[in-house]
Amino acid sequence: MRIVVTRRVPEAAMVVLREAGEVWVSGEDRPLRPDELREAVRGADAVVCMLHDRVDGAVADAAGPQLKVVANVAVGHDNIDVPALAERGVTVTNTPGVLTDATADLAFGLLLAVTRRIGEGERLLRARRPWSFHLGFMLGSGLQGKTLGIVGLGQIGQAMARRARAFGMRIVYSGRSRAKPEVESALHAEHLSFLELLRTADVVSLHCPLTAETRHLIDAEALGAMKHSAFLINTTRGPVVDEAALADALLRREIAGAGLDVFEKEPEVEPRLLELDNVVVTPHLGSATVETRTEMALLAARNVAAVLSAEGAVNEVRP
Ligand code: DGY
Repeated sequence: MRIVVTRRVPEAAMVVLREAGEVWVSGEDRPLRPDELREAVRGADAVVCMLHDRVDGAVADAAGPQLKVVANVAVGHDNIDVPALAERGVTVTNTPGVLTDATADLAFGLLLAVTRRIGEGERLLRARRPWSFHLGFMLGSGLQGKTLGIVGLGQIGQAMARRARAFGMRIVYSGRSRAKPEVESALHAEHLSFLELLRTADVVSLHCPLTAETRHLIDAEALGAMKHSAFLINTTRGPVVDEAALADALLRREIAGAGLDVFEKEPEVEPRLLELDNVVVTPHLGSATVETRTEMALLAARNVAAVLSAEGAVNEVRP
């Protein structure tokens, strides 16, 4: 069995993959270009890929009819054309569960950083600018009694809600479907329509997957519906937010600030966002802990091994 890995993975996952077949790993310290990806997968039975690899019917065809599984080392799978792969009999897998806490931690970190102006304060000191303590100096917004609006109350959204509850926040949420009553009552979460959530929340945090329906969910109109004092946090996928509209809204002070871990055209970032003091940015670090990245790679490797040994995938993504 030939297993192609598009970017280096932790050794623990390599051990599992080597037991399942002959492994080829890209030696590049960058994403493979589309032509390189098509070349690399030739003859593969399994492909372990990253969220920056676009895996569609053309990639599956380049691999050949023996391709059995594409294992994405991510929970999001918007980079994979799942129906096109299903048509070709290829199983697609992802890595849910193992990155829930790490991602919610980072989302809450961004929330704290932007509401308490942590990045701004750090930049002030590093620039060695003069400052002194006074009662009006660099005031942020407190969280206690404020409302967190969670868009998408899946596993990560729920983990975010638990963190926010510990900070005394009220939780409202919107999503494609209503959460189970026991989830709502455990989190004291109130279901609102998307528009009501935008109008009510002091912080809007995005935890929905990127789909055709959620692309540019946060556009100029949605931003216009938010409170002028509200903050936006995005740790899901960049294209859920219209980045140009967000920069416009921030420049016009239509909202108070944003904490962003993901961007529309990664690794690029809308340059105007980088000029703004009320924007905190991190380079797609949601799941970036040693423990979580190891678990993600291991889960992907186990999915490959399970499909190749005909046991069936652990985390199959259905079209
Ligand atoms: C995912 O798994 O989808 C995350 O974006 C990776 O951090």
